[in-house]
Amino acid sequence: MARQLKIALIPGDGIGGDVVREATKVLDVVAGLADLTIDYTSYDLGAARYLATGELLPDSVVADLKKSDAILFGAIGDPSVAPGILERGIILQLRFVMDYYLNLRPVRLFPGVRGILADKSSQEIDMVVCREGTEGPYAGAGGTLRMGTSGEVVTEVAIHTHFAVERIIRDAFERATKRRNKVTLVAKTNVLVHSGSLWMRTFEAVSTEFPGVETDYCHVDAAAMYMLTTPERFDLVVTDNLFGDILTDIGAAISGGIGLAASGNIDPSGKNPSMFEPVHGSAPDIAGKGIADPTAAVLSMAMLLEHVGEDEAAGWVQSAVAEDLLTRSGQQRGTREIGDALADLASRGQMKA
Ligand code: IPM
Ligand code: MN
Repeated sequence: MARQLKIALIPGDGIGGDVVREATKVLDVVAGLADLTIDYTSYDLGAARYLATGELLPDSVVADLKKSDAILFGAIGDPSVAPGILERGIILQLRFVMDYYLNLRPVRLFPGVRGILADKSSQEIDMVVCREGTEGPYAGAGGTLRMGTSGEVVTEVAIHTHFAVERIIRDAFERATKRRNKVTLVAKTNVLVHSGSLWMRTFEAVSTEFPGVETDYCHVDAAAMYMLTTPERFDLVVTDNLFGDILTDIGAAISGGIGLAASGNIDPSGKNPSMFEPVHGSAPDIAGKGIADPTAAVLSMAMLLEHVGEDEAAGWVQSAVAEDLLTRSGQQRGTREIGDALADLASRGQMKA
């Protein structure tokens, strides 16, 4: 009997809808081949709903999302809404309420893709960043006193708990054993001494459980430089929420651009359905023009399939993307054309296997 998968879609704002549509097109093709029945439900979160009703992420939507097997997210953000409202109210709120403590961001230069680092090959740019997803300065601790006066005082406090630091570090070590057995901790122990010490001591403690895994440490500023000069030194990188945010944009830049960067918001405990999203934003300037690259959304969907145990279907999608990227240079194609090409390549995946 066909396996049933309940997939929640949150297209969101801007190009989110365009790229999610192409990702589901590809999913439909591989689902057919893998004998999967996909039951989609789409949720209209984002600027339009907020402007019409004032709602960001209603509890009823969260309760519904929790019934799905996995979530595919497009992008959130619109110039008609003040910065921070949609981001904090929807995407960050989802990361908190679903306890997505692992923000998993592969950084991989596919063969055939011309990266900005002309002297680096696809073997040299192949790492995974395990970004902590629930704490750091993102936790929302802070406030403003005497706003708008010359006496204005603001605080923006970073939260780091032993509990959260330990679980993300342990997850990174476990993942490292399935890759090249090397984990690099990125922090700023020379300046952020309180959090740096907690991360370092926890890293050292967890490392004793994984004697076969080599450990390395970089300050975040040096890590930013090494990502551009010697990315091959990194395999598994574990870091906090803000450093991970910044480093993964560098990661996207060195691996073919933000149009290719995929990610997963993961609750490794499996209590909540995990959510997969392209790293790019809503790009309101090109929304509706049909020119956004859906590849990052399609690759995020491949991560979703892998997460729910559909490794074969995930592999077909990844191979389709790899094949398309190999021959893509110089071609001018729109969102739909790329989606069609990927769907077509994915449909042939099974025959090659
Ligand atoms: C990302 C984004 C988000 C973040 C924003 C939109 C809140 O930049 O997913 O990397 O900072 O985490
Ligand atoms: Mn970011």
